[in-house]
Amino acid sequence: MIKLKAEQILFFESNGFLVMGPITTDEELSRLRTIYDRLFEMQAGRENGDQFDLAGTDEEGKPAGLPQILTPSKYAPELLKGNYFDNAMSIAKQLLGPQARFTGEHAILKPAHTGSPTPWHQDEAYWSPEFDYHALSLWMPLQQATLENGCMEFIPGSHKRDILPHQSIGNDPRIHGLELAIDIDTGGKVSCPLPAGGATLHLSRTLHYTGPNRSQEPRRALILNFGTPPVKRTKPRDFYWQIGKRTARMERASRD
Ligand code: NI
Repeated sequence: MIKLKAEQILFFESNGFLVMGPITTDEELSRLRTIYDRLFEMQAGRENGDQFDLAGTDEEGKPAGLPQILTPSKYAPELLKGNYFDNAMSIAKQLLGPQARFTGEHAILKPAHTGSPTPWHQDEAYWSPEFDYHALSLWMPLQQATLENGCMEFIPGSHKRDILPHQSIGNDPRIHGLELAIDIDTGGKVSCPLPAGGATLHLSRTLHYTGPNRSQEPRRALILNFGTPPVKRTKPRDFYWQIGKRTARMERASRD
């Protein structure tokens, strides 16, 4: 099991993110890549809205610029088995405390050449405004992640900010993805290239971004979420950008 150093925990607490070397083996990565590619090829979850285009309007027959699968383990439970998952769980508990639990996972693929950027956002802007969270995401690329193919970029210390105003990407309510609705200074951003199977961790309010994939190969990322039990607020926050969404994914999900 991976034991974090005190400096790593302090770095995470003061910057809102952490960069780690490989948390898995080449053999395990190869196994995960096979499962991952199969799920996207067979469009697993498309019919019920679990697979969709994060950054586009997602109409039938239109190739997705940024395909995403929510809870891919529904379609391949073996995806969450193995050494990398045990390591991720242990790291999350060291950063959030022993009450931390696994809360879900998703897969975001940036196809070769065509991948869209994932605009600056805070993950918590997607979540229920009725709760307070102490949560993090572990982002693991299944091949090298570079500036060219869309590695993670963070604004250090941004986890200390409140939730900033967000909107649907391009302010188009047909698009699932969110982006900041205000301009921020990204001058202090830190880009985090990783080896295959390395990981970044970030808190639910840490501002982050990934660029487009300009490389010849797909950029596969598996994201695991962990958190302590959310605490119900006396008064919900106003996440007005969640209201009025009309995505093709919601339409497909409502069909069954
Ligand atoms: Ni995110």
